[in-house]
Amino acid sequence: MSPLQSLPPLRPITEENPYKIVFVCLGNICRSPTGEGVMQHLINENGFQNYFEIDSAGTSAWHEGEPANSKSRSVAESHGVKLLSRARQFEKRDFEHFDLIIAMDLENKKNLLALAGTEDHKEKVQLLRNYDDTPEDGQVPDPYYGGLSGFENVFQIVQRSCKALFEKLKPQISP
Ligand code: 4NP
Repeated sequence: MSPLQSLPPLRPITEENPYKIVFVCLGNICRSPTGEGVMQHLINENGFQNYFEIDSAGTSAWHEGEPANSKSRSVAESHGVKLLSRARQFEKRDFEHFDLIIAMDLENKKNLLALAGTEDHKEKVQLLRNYDDTPEDGQVPDPYYGGLSGFENVFQIVQRSCKALFEKLKPQISP
């Protein structure tokens, strides 16, 4: 894994101009809904819900409209986190709306970069595990075809990485 990629240019995070993050995986039913739910939970726990907008999307439209996978939901709930997303496909206009676009694996990142129109948009695309202090190969493994332990592993990676990302963003919050 290459050294930690820097965040896109940071800016003050205010209630008037909340920081917008979208988590992206392939189906938007396992990994990215976990990212969305965990990050929203951290933000709520810290009382900063008016300072952030958190979403998730898939590079595919295969599961459009579906709730998060039942194993993803039950693992998250066992850790006190609710996954409330409905699957949608990532759209080109999301590059404008969001400050930070978090890819779960290298394939997601490659597909996002291929869709990005400008260098500014490309700069917004980051791997989630850039924020993990034990990044391994930099990817969140796809748990879809495996058992519950794979979903638990995804939750742990996502939670660790989201906590680190949140710590990086916190100093930018200006009440
Ligand atoms: P996700 O997992 O990208 O983490 O939501 C997957 C969900 C569905 C499929 C693959 C991965 N699928 O092949 O349908």
